[in-house]
Amino acid sequence: MNFFHKIFRLLPPELAHKLALDALNFLFKIRLIHLFFKKPKEDLFSFAGMSFKNRLGTAAGLDKNGDYIDCLGELGFGFLEVGTVTPVSQDGNQKPRVFRNFQDESIINRLGFNNKGVDHLVKNLKLRSYKGVVGVNVGANKKSEGKKRIEDYLHCIEKVHKYADYITINISSPNTPNLRDLHNANNLSDLVTSIENKVKELKIGIPFFLKISPDETDESLENIIKTVENTFFTGIIATNTTIDKRSLTNKKYMEIEGGLSGKPLMDKSTDKIKIIKNKSNGVIPIIGVGGVMSASDFNKKIDAGSKLVQIYTGFVIKGPKILNEILEKND
Ligand SMILES: Cc1cc2nc3c(=O)[nH]c(=O)nc-3n(C[C@H](O)[C@H](O)[C@H](O)COP(=O)(O)O)c2cc1C
Repeated sequence: MNFFHKIFRLLPPELAHKLALDALNFLFKIRLIHLFFKKPKEDLFSFAGMSFKNRLGTAAGLDKNGDYIDCLGELGFGFLEVGTVTPVSQDGNQKPRVFRNFQDESIINRLGFNNKGVDHLVKNLKLRSYKGVVGVNVGANKKSEGKKRIEDYLHCIEKVHKYADYITINISSPNTPNLRDLHNANNLSDLVTSIENKVKELKIGIPFFLKISPDETDESLENIIKTVENTFFTGIIATNTTIDKRSLTNKKYMEIEGGLSGKPLMDKSTDKIKIIKNKSNGVIPIIGVGGVMSASDFNKKIDAGSKLVQIYTGFVIKGPKILNEILEKND
C-alpha cells in the first residue's frame, strides 16, 4: 500500500473519497496521471449496440454528479456509470453514513442519494471530452412518493437521454425509504409502463438497464426477468448493495444500518447473475457488479454470465491500481 493510500484510509470516508478523486483529477489536468497509474491496454468489446474500451466500468455512486468523468475515463475504465441522480439536488441522510470495514474489504453506506440534481449532471455530460461509454443512473427524490416517484424517473430520463449512452433505472437502493418496493410486480409494472410511454413519446433509442437488489426472492427475480424480456429494457445490472450483513466477520459492523458492498457481497450478487442467465436462457444482457476485488472475481462475474463488470468498493479499498490488476490479467 503506498503512502497516499495509507493517508486516505485514516481520513473520514466521504472526505477521503472526495480528496482522492480531486487528487486524481489534478493529476489528470496536469497530464501526469499515467506517471502514477499505467493506462491499461484497450480491449475493445461490443455489447448492447455500444462499443467499450474494455469490460470494466465504474459502478453508480462513485461519481454521482459526473464531476470526474474525464479523469476516470483517462484512468482506463472501459465505461462509466454516473449518478444516481434525482430531479432536485438533495443532501442525503445524516452523517456518519459511510462505514469502511477494511477487515472484510467492504463498505456499508446509507448515503440516501445525495446529489447535486439532474441539471448539474447534464452540464457535466455536455462538457465531457471522454469518448467512451457513459451511462446515467436515475432515481427519485426522497420526498417523492407514489406517482410523484415515477414522475421523478421520467423527469431525469427526459433531461439526460440526449447526453447518455445508456440509462439505468435504479430501483434497488436500500437507503431511500420504500424504493425497493418498486421490485414488486404491480409497482414495477406501473413504473415500466410509464417509462415505456416516455421512451416512445421521445423516441429514445439508447439502451435501458434495470438495476436490481441482491435481496430479492427467486419469485420476485422471475417477475423481473419476465418484465425485462417483454418490455423496452435491454438488460439488467446485478446487483446493488445488500442489507444482509450475516457474511461479515467483523461483527461490530453487523448492526450498522445501510447497504453492504465489497467482498461479502460477491457470492450473493454473482448467484443472481447465474439465476438471470439460466432463467432467461442467456438471452438477457447482464452487467455484473458486487464484490469484485481481484481479477479472479472479475472472471467469476464473466463466467456467471455477465458481459460487463462494474466496480466500486474494490476501487476504494485497493485504489486505482486495481484497474491494471484486473485488466492486464484478462488479455
Ligand atoms: C458509498 C456507495 C454509494 C453508492 N451509491 C450508489 C448510487 O448512487 N446508485 C446506485 O445504483 N448504486 C450505488 N452504490 C452501489 C454500487 O453501485 C454497487 O452496486 C455496489 O456497491 C456493489 O458493488 P461493489 O461491491 O463493487 O461496491 C453505492 C455504493 C457505495 C459503496
